[in-house]
Amino acid sequence: MRNFEFYNPTKLIFGRDTLEALRNEVPKYGKNVLLMYGGGSIKRSGLYDKVIAHLKELDVQITELSGVEPNPRLSTVHKGVELCHQHNIDLILAVGGGSVIDCAKAVAVGAKYDGDMWDFLERKAVPQAALPLGTVLTIAATGSEMNGGSVITNEVTQEKLAWGSIHAYPAFSILDPVHTFTLPRDQTVYGMVDIMSHVLEHYFHTDGNTLAQDGFCEGLLRTVIETGPKLVEDLENYELRETILYCGTMALNGMVSMGFAGDWATHNIEHAVSAVYDIPHGGGLAILFPQWMKYNLSSNPARFRKLAVNAFGVNPEGKTDEEIGLEGIEALRRFWDSIGAPKTLADYEIDDSQIGVMADKAMRFGPFGNFRKLNREDVVEIYTMSL
Ligand code: NZQ
Ligand code: ZN
Repeated sequence: MRNFEFYNPTKLIFGRDTLEALRNEVPKYGKNVLLMYGGGSIKRSGLYDKVIAHLKELDVQITELSGVEPNPRLSTVHKGVELCHQHNIDLILAVGGGSVIDCAKAVAVGAKYDGDMWDFLERKAVPQAALPLGTVLTIAATGSEMNGGSVITNEVTQEKLAWGSIHAYPAFSILDPVHTFTLPRDQTVYGMVDIMSHVLEHYFHTDGNTLAQDGFCEGLLRTVIETGPKLVEDLENYELRETILYCGTMALNGMVSMGFAGDWATHNIEHAVSAVYDIPHGGGLAILFPQWMKYNLSSNPARFRKLAVNAFGVNPEGKTDEEIGLEGIEALRRFWDSIGAPKTLADYEIDDSQIGVMADKAMRFGPFGNFRKLNREDVVEIYTMSL
């Protein structure tokens, strides 16, 4: 293992009827609340009314920023920062999925910064402070509810970049599985693909002696494999939603990834696709991850073998590590097919015309990937394999 420090300041409030916790949490931060949400799902589900009712009881001033896009835009972040200044905001409350939360994180640091917060994504500056942020999560996917990461799209330059800061962790996050009941089947699938992809990004590393961490990761994967097919047939099942919601948070809150550096190349490759084509993040990962795995299988077959046997139940008898590893990749592909995840870029009507553009975007900060460094030719090859 590498030496590490672990600190996660988010208070996680998980379970049925936990929205009540707003009563205790919100008053800790002040009177002026910026309520951020997406394109209307929380109005249709009734969650918006419940949140407003709680806030009214607390007698806080509510300012709203609605319409946060999936793959949230920098222009929306700018609107939020302006509202924070105009209304002297004390607390941002993000109600929605990873996009709303990521946008709220960007507003939170942007409100405390004199320049344009895009500087943080271009790595020209580092956040030094943020407004407090609370979240009410409505989709199990990104883990944004309990991490300091955020991904923002600059629609002018067509760039989708990730940033992170200790200041961007939510102060509290409320996770009630019931709030995910209305999530449609396709978004539920994208969420599960994202969760599994986070675990896979962790799993492909080159640091030694991570037996316990490997076991946590394999366990999370086996849990999604067991639960996912039942959930897509039974979207309002509390226990199944609860299991996936817990997996989503655990997959990217730092708990299973201490002491090593995961790969993260596939996320970078996917963000470049979403930057150009605005496709759902989980949909892109479902296409790209198995191809990244095939492309890198020969660089460390023993690692792929371990994954295949322990997460996908591949029988290793009489086979080489590479054969076993390939069977694992095929099992992952079959699993994602079985729950209805996309398989090729053509599923989003993406052809080879922008591969060079996407590859350039992916290379924004130079060669990347901790399991194996990828350069531009590698990225072009993985996109080509994914067509
Ligand atoms: O906008 P609304 O109307 O709310 O609809 C959303 C949106 O259309 C809908 N939805 C969410 N909860 C719902 C619901 N519909 C019905 N019922 C509910 N309960 O689902 C759609 C997708 O929502 P979004 O927030 O975009 O999904 P997700 O949570 O997957 O977030 C994706 C974004 O997060 C980034 C991705 O790149 C992408 O921009 N990521 C953030 C990470 C992080 N902060 O740590 C890590 C991830 O790897 C990822 O890159
Ligand atoms: Zn992801």
